Amino acid sequence: MTNKTLITGQLLTFHANPFSEAPQDAVRHERQGAILVEGGIIRATGPAEILRAAHPQARVADMGAALLLPGFVDAHAHYPQTEIIASWGKRLIDWLNTYTFPAEMEFGDPAHAARIAERYFDLTLSHGTTTVCSFATSHPGSVDAFFAEAQKRGLRAVTGKTCMDRNAPDGLMDTAQSAYDDSKALLERWHGVDRLEYAITPRFTPTSSRAQLHALGALWTEFPDCLMQTHLSEQIDEIAWVRDLHPQARDYLDTYEQADLLGPKAVFGHSIHLEPREIDRIAEAGAGLVHCPTSNTFIGSGLFDMGLARRLTVGLATDTGGGSSFSMLRTMAAAYEIGQLRGNPLHPAQLLWLATEGSARAMHMVDRIGTLEVGSEADIIALDLGSTPAIAQRAARADDIWEQVFPTIMMGDDRAIAGVWTGGNRC
Ligand code: GUN
Ligand code: ZN
Repeated sequence: MTNKTLITGQLLTFHANPFSEAPQDAVRHERQGAILVEGGIIRATGPAEILRAAHPQARVADMGAALLLPGFVDAHAHYPQTEIIASWGKRLIDWLNTYTFPAEMEFGDPAHAARIAERYFDLTLSHGTTTVCSFATSHPGSVDAFFAEAQKRGLRAVTGKTCMDRNAPDGLMDTAQSAYDDSKALLERWHGVDRLEYAITPRFTPTSSRAQLHALGALWTEFPDCLMQTHLSEQIDEIAWVRDLHPQARDYLDTYEQADLLGPKAVFGHSIHLEPREIDRIAEAGAGLVHCPTSNTFIGSGLFDMGLARRLTVGLATDTGGGSSFSMLRTMAAAYEIGQLRGNPLHPAQLLWLATEGSARAMHMVDRIGTLEVGSEADIIALDLGSTPAIAQRAARADDIWEQVFPTIMMGDDRAIAGVWTGGNRC
C-alpha cells in the first residue's frame, strides 16, 4: 500500500518574483510535468517520465494537458457578504449601509452563519481557491462557523471577528473592551488549530473608535504572530471622512500606526489612494497590500497602482461581496484591465503569481501555501486551458504557454477548474 499520488499535467513553477525579474524568466515550464504528493505535502516536482519511473507504486491522477498550479489564495474577502454579491448602484459608504450591514446582521443567528459558511466554501473551492483570508462579522459565532467549516474540509483558512464600535447599526456594534475580549477568546480557541489562523480585524477607521483601535493594537502586541487585517484608502470620500474623524493624524495610515496597528503582519485591503509617506511607512514596516480589482471597479473606488509591487508585498483578492466574482481568474482579468488603464499591462506570469505566491506572501504563509515548492502543503489545482469553445479556439492558436494560458485568465471561470486538491486530498 502506498499513499503517494502523482498528479500529471503541464507545470509552471516560479523561481523568482516576476515583478523583480523579467516575468518569463522567473518561471520554469514543464510541458509533461508531475507533482508527487505524500502525507498532504508536495514531495517532488519535475518531468512526469522521471517521477513515474522513480515512484512506480504511486497512484496517478493524469490531468492530461491541464495546467497544474498552487491553489488560488484569496487574500481579502468577506464571506458574510456571499448573498449580497452584485448589489446595484452604490458606492462604498452607501453600499455598506444599504446592503452589507443588513446582511451582516443576520449572522447573529449561528445557523445562518453555518449555512453561509458552507455555501461560501462550496463556491470558493469550485473556483479553485484553496485558501481565503476573510472578514467575519462582529458576531463571534460567525468566526466559529467559518473555522468549523474550513476545519471540516481540511483547509488552510484565516478569519477574524470584524470589530466596529461606531458608525454602524446597533446590532453590529461592539465596544473597545468587548472587541478585545471576544477577539482574544476566539484567537485562543482557533489560532494554530489544524490549518486555521486568526486575524485581528478592525473593519476600518470610520467604524472603530480610537479606544477600539488601541485595544486591538494591544491585543496584537500580545499575539504578534497573528495577521492584522483591515481596509485602507479605498475611496476618496472615505479618506475625507477619516480626515474629519482624525484631524491630527498625518494621513489614513497614521490612524492605524498611532494604535500600534502597523507591523510586518499587517494586511491592508485596497490601498488605492496612498500618500508617499504611507507607501514609505508600509515598505519600512514590511506590511502587505491587497489589490481587489473587481471590487475597485464595481464599487467605483479607483485604479490600484501595480507598480507598487516592485517595492511592496502585494496580494490579490476578490473582496467578495464588494467584488463582483468568486473567481480568482476573473480577478486576474480585472487586474489586467486596470493595469491597461494605468499603462501597465501585467504579464500572465505576474497575474498567476499574484493569485498564488503574491497573496501567500502578503499573508506570511509562503512557506506553506501558494507555491509548488517541495515541502509545501499540497493545495493544488488543475486548470483546463480549453474550458469553453471561445477559450479553446483562441488557445489553439497559441505559440507558447503564455498565449495558451492568457485566454483562460481573461475568459475563464469555474468551468476551467478541472481538479482541486487540498492537503493532498482531491475535493
Ligand atoms: N471598507 C469597510 N468595510 C468594507 C467592506 O465590507 N467592503 C469593502 N470593499 N470595503 C470596506
Ligand atoms: Zn474588504
